[in-house]
Amino acid sequence: MVCLGNICRSPLAEGLLRSKVNPDEVEVDSAGTAAYHVGEAPDIRTIMTGRKHGINLSSLVGRQFKTVDFDYFDRIYVMDHSNLNNVLNMARNEADRAKVDLILNEIKAGSNQDVPDPYYGGDEGFEQVYRLLDAATDTIVEKLKDGRI
Ligand code: 4NP
Repeated sequence: MVCLGNICRSPLAEGLLRSKVNPDEVEVDSAGTAAYHVGEAPDIRTIMTGRKHGINLSSLVGRQFKTVDFDYFDRIYVMDHSNLNNVLNMARNEADRAKVDLILNEIKAGSNQDVPDPYYGGDEGFEQVYRLLDAATDTIVEKLKDGRI
């Protein structure tokens, strides 16, 4: 799960997906394309939104997306087109590129919609992000179950 800062959207995506899969079968992580918040906990509004829905995000630590993530992970979900461009610019080959998609394409294939960045807005933006990512991670889980991922 990749966003810009790794403190708002991608930690929520990570926590949501992790809460829905068997940790012995699926490894979930998140990262930011930027280094601004490396080593930091998620934004307090992210943590409170997760807590409201029974997901503990307080122990997550921000890190930056790195090229070796293409080797380690099977799927790389980005939150918006800016993240998409940044990650694709780091891809070394077609196999790397094929792993990357906008996460909301899981809800509606080919829709190419962004998860809005809630950083400069209010709490309701985080709730909206939560709902979008809840739906997207539901679809990811269905695909994992029937082998489409
Ligand atoms: P995120 O949100 O990419 O969803 O974690 C942001 C976090 C920090 C900044 C921008 C967006 N920032 O400019 O520091």
